[in-house]
Amino acid sequence: MNEEGHVYRVSGTLVIAENVKNAKIGDVVHIGEQELLGEIVRIIGNKVAIQCFEDTTGLRPGEPVINTNKPLVAELAPGLLGQIYDGLQMPEKKLFELTENPFVRRGYKLPPLDYDKKWEFIPEFTVKKHINEYVKLEKYRVKVGDKVEEGSIIGSTQETSAIEHKIMVPYGIRGKIIDLREGKYNIKEPIATIELPDGTKKEITMLQYWPVRKPRPYREHLPLTTPLITGQRVIDVFFPIPKGGAGAIPGGFGTGKTVTLHQLARWCDADVVVYIGCGERGNEMADVIAHFPQLKDPRTGKTLSERSIFIANVSNLPVFARESSIYMGVTIAEYYRDMGYDVALMADSTSRWAEAMRDISGRLEEIPAERGFPAYLAERIASFYERSGRVVTLGHPERIGSLTIMGATSPPGGDFSEPVTSTTVRFIGTLWALDKELAFQRHFPAINWLMSFSKYAELLEKYWARKDPKFLKLREEALTVLEEAAKIEEIARIVGEKALPDDQRQILLTAEILRHGFLYQNAFHKVDTYCEPPKQIKMLSAIMQYHEWTKRLVKEGNVTIDEIRDVRISVTTPEGEVKQTLAVTELEKVRMVKGTDYIDELMDKIKEKLDELAEKHGVIL
Ligand SMILES: Nc1ncnc2c1ncn2[C@@H]1O[C@H](COP(=O)(O)OP(=O)(O)OP(=O)(O)O)[C@@H](O)[C@H]1O
Ligand SMILES: [Mg+2]
Repeated sequence: MNEEGHVYRVSGTLVIAENVKNAKIGDVVHIGEQELLGEIVRIIGNKVAIQCFEDTTGLRPGEPVINTNKPLVAELAPGLLGQIYDGLQMPEKKLFELTENPFVRRGYKLPPLDYDKKWEFIPEFTVKKHINEYVKLEKYRVKVGDKVEEGSIIGSTQETSAIEHKIMVPYGIRGKIIDLREGKYNIKEPIATIELPDGTKKEITMLQYWPVRKPRPYREHLPLTTPLITGQRVIDVFFPIPKGGAGAIPGGFGTGKTVTLHQLARWCDADVVVYIGCGERGNEMADVIAHFPQLKDPRTGKTLSERSIFIANVSNLPVFARESSIYMGVTIAEYYRDMGYDVALMADSTSRWAEAMRDISGRLEEIPAERGFPAYLAERIASFYERSGRVVTLGHPERIGSLTIMGATSPPGGDFSEPVTSTTVRFIGTLWALDKELAFQRHFPAINWLMSFSKYAELLEKYWARKDPKFLKLREEALTVLEEAAKIEEIARIVGEKALPDDQRQILLTAEILRHGFLYQNAFHKVDTYCEPPKQIKMLSAIMQYHEWTKRLVKEGNVTIDEIRDVRISVTTPEGEVKQTLAVTELEKVRMVKGTDYIDELMDKIKEKLDELAEKHGVIL
C-alpha cells in the first residue's frame, strides 16, 4: 500500500490521485516525475480529482503527487508591465525564446518575474487626488515611525516611464515602520521592516502574492461618474462605459470583436491595460507575442508595453490553463487598481473560458445545465464582472482606483440567446451588440445601435453636462433619428424608398449620414482610428445642424429630398484642384480629416448652398 500521494487514474487532463496530504479544494499540486502542475477540484474520501494544467501524456498510475498546500497565486511586483503571460503566469516571451515555440511548455517552469533585476526603491510616491472629475497629483513621503496597515503605500519604484509602481503593505499586516531602505533592490530583498502590534518584526519586499480566484479587498465601492474615453464614436457617444464599469461585446464569427477590443486597449484613457486573449486561434497569439511589445502607444509615443500586460492562452494548451487566465488577468488588474490607477481589462473571448468550464465539468461528470454548461456558469460569470468597479482602496493615503472590465463573447451562429451571452448580458451595464449583417456590409465597428445599450448613460449625464451642455440633447436627438429611421426603413422595404413622403426620406437621409459619417469608424485609417471627444461633439452637432436645416426645407418649403441630396459645394483637393462635390458626401468624410477647423469651413459652405435653395422656396433658415 502506497501511503504517499500518488496517481491512481489518468483520464485526459483529469487526474485522480490517492493519499494526497492535507488536500483542500484549490490546492496546487505537482504531478508525476515531470512535476506537471494541477489544481485540486474535488475531494472524494482519500481520493482527489486534479485538473492538470498540462498535457498528461505518459503519466502513469503510481507516480508521486505532491501538495504545495498553496492555491494558485499571482506574483505581484514591479516587472509585470510589458509581460506576456499564460494563465499560470508563465512568461510566454521567455518560453518562446527557450523553445522557439509558444505551444511547447511541458517540463518548463519559469518564474513569472525577474528575481535578480534591481529596482530603485524610494520611500516617496505620488497619488491621484480626485476633485470631481479633475485629477491632481499629490506627493507623499514615508518615514520611519509611520503607522501603516494593509494596503498602505510605503514607497515606489519607476516601473516604466509611464507607471510609478507603488509598493503596498501586504494583506494582513499592520504596525509601525521601524526600517526603510531606500536604494536598489531586487523584488525578494527587504525594503522595509514593520513592527507588528505584538512586537514581532516583519520584513517587507516589493513582491507579494495573491490567490487569483479571490477578489482583492477594498474599502468601499463608489458610484461610477467618469466615462472611459475610447475615441470610438459609437461607444463614447451612444454606448459609453464608465471607469469601473462592466461591458460585453458579443459577436458571431468575424464580426469585429478582436479589432474592437484592440482599439479599446490601444486608445482608452486607462492608466494600465490588461488584455486577456483566451484560447483564440494559435497563430493569432503567436502574432501577438511577436508584435505586441513593439506596438506604439499613440498617446505617449512609447511602446504600449509600458502600460500593458498581456495574458495569452493559445487553444493548443489544455483547457484548464485557459480557465485560469481570466482569474490571473483580473487579479493583476486589481493590484494596479489598488495603487490608485484606472485599469482597463479586456477579455477575448470569455466564451472560450466558459467552454473550458464546460469541459472540466463534463469530465467531473457533474450534472449539466443548459447546452452542457455547468449549473454554476452564471455564478462564475457574475463573479468575474463583479470584480469591476471604482473603489476606495485599503490603506493610506486614501485613493481611488478603478477597474473596467470588457469581455467579448462568441455566440455560436451569432445566436445571442445561447447561455454564455445571455448570462453575461445580465451582469454588465454596457452592451455592444455586434451585428453580422452590418459586418457583412463592412459597416465597422458593427455595433448595432438598436440592440446595444448603456445603463450607465444616466450616471454620466452630470459629467457630460459639465463638459459640454449641448452634448446630451444632441445624443438624444441623434438616437431618436436612428430609431425613427429604423421604423421607416421597415416600410421602405415594402414600398421602396422613393415612394415615401419627403419628411420621412429626410429622416432616412440624416440617419444615413450618421451611419456613414459618424457610427462608421475605420480602425485602420490613420485619422479615423481615434476621434477625440471634442471632435466627436463637433461632428455630431454638424450632422444634427444639417438635419435641422433640411427638416425645415422639407417642412416649410416643400423642398424634395432629391433636390437636397443634389446640393453641391466646391472643395479644393489636396492636389490643389477645385471641384464640385455633393455636400452629403463631404459631410460623411469629415471623420477622415484631422482636427475640427475643417468642419466649420464645410458647414459654412453647406449653409451658403442651402440658403440659396431656401430662398428659391421662400424659406429663411
Ligand atoms: N473597426 C473596424 N474597422 C475596420 N475594419 C474592421 C473593424 N472591425 C473589424 N474589421 C474587419 O473585420 C475583420 C474581422 O474582425 P475581427 O477579427 O475583430 O473579428 P472577430 O469577431 O474577432 O472574429 P473571430 O470570431 O474570428 O474571433 C477584420 O479583419 C477587419 O477586416
Ligand atoms: Mg477574434
